[in-house]
Amino acid sequence: MRRGKFGAAITAFSVIAVSALSANMACAEESPLPYPAGKLGEVVRLGEEIVMRTDEHPLSKPFVGNTLRCTSCHLEGGKHPQAGSFLQTAVAYPAWSPREKRVITLEDRVLNCFMRSQNGVRPPNGSEVAVAVTTYITWLSTGAAIKMNAEKPLGPNHVPAIDLAKHQPADVERGKIVYQQRCADCHGEEGAGDLDNPPVWGDQSYNDGAGLSRVDKLASWVKVGMPVDDADLTEQEAIDVAAFINSHARPHFELKDHLPPPERRGEYNGESPN
Ligand code: HEC
Ligand code: HEC
Repeated sequence: MRRGKFGAAITAFSVIAVSALSANMACAEESPLPYPAGKLGEVVRLGEEIVMRTDEHPLSKPFVGNTLRCTSCHLEGGKHPQAGSFLQTAVAYPAWSPREKRVITLEDRVLNCFMRSQNGVRPPNGSEVAVAVTTYITWLSTGAAIKMNAEKPLGPNHVPAIDLAKHQPADVERGKIVYQQRCADCHGEEGAGDLDNPPVWGDQSYNDGAGLSRVDKLASWVKVGMPVDDADLTEQEAIDVAAFINSHARPHFELKDHLPPPERRGEYNGESPN
């Protein structure tokens, strides 16, 4: 009986992975992966809701310092197989973190994205928001085999940063043209976005400690994720537009501004000042 259920879960998981891939990741398909029964299923759904509405949800809003949501970058709530995919991510954890110089859990990794990409404050380990989001992301690895990452805190479906050395140097002026032609309709001439589209620079955007503030990482993400439903830039165009976006001002990251007070911090052992 138990075996049967487990087998069904694996099959359902491969269905989302494969069908999303064959549809060229264009649309968020309703996941056939069943929610777990009982309270666990409720917490998975709660985590999913927080990922979709991070800047508004009452449990996450106090820890968010911009108008982004996890799904702004982890497209389709992390079900996109490439652009910030959460599919199978949980198998990589616990993982070695070169930045923190220690082994971190998936929960730690989730909380770190609040400090940088969400320009907010790290929620306490074990808080309701931390547990719900981590539970949701773990659920998206149902049936996949554990393969802890000894090198860096990244899952098997993360998009490796583009190797800038293999291309012409990033050109902000060329990037501006790509932006105006392919991005500005949604993200606005001033990068501020609107109700449907998130800001790409300015005080409501990710801070300069976030992964996307690096041109090589932003370029590799744009290459597979933008424009939405039509990600067809060349690597060079992605590099240039990434350099243009990151040539604008955004909040500056100082670790001390993003940690909760020591009594609510748990065991954040990161040594590095940035
Ligand atoms: C501004 C974009 C952005 C936002 C918003 C964002 N992230 Fe991330 N996140 C990233 C990028 C980029 C990476 C990969 C970083 C790298 O390559 O070093 C990442 C990595 C991660 C990882 C590790 C993925 C892996 O493959 O192991 C997790 C987990 C994660 N984010 C969770 C979250 C959660 C939860 C939220 C919302 C609270 C969030 N992120 C918000 C951009 C973002
Ligand atoms: C059709 C509208 C549309 C177009 C065109 C578009 N985007 Fe986006 N972009 C979005 C939406 C919507 C999101 C958030 C995804 C979500 O919430 O599902 C997003 C997210 C982003 C993000 C991550 C979140 C943030 O705001 O920092 C970046 C960076 C980004 N887009 C860059 C680009 C670039 C570069 C281009 C042009 C090559 C582009 N986009 C074209 C709609 C668009």
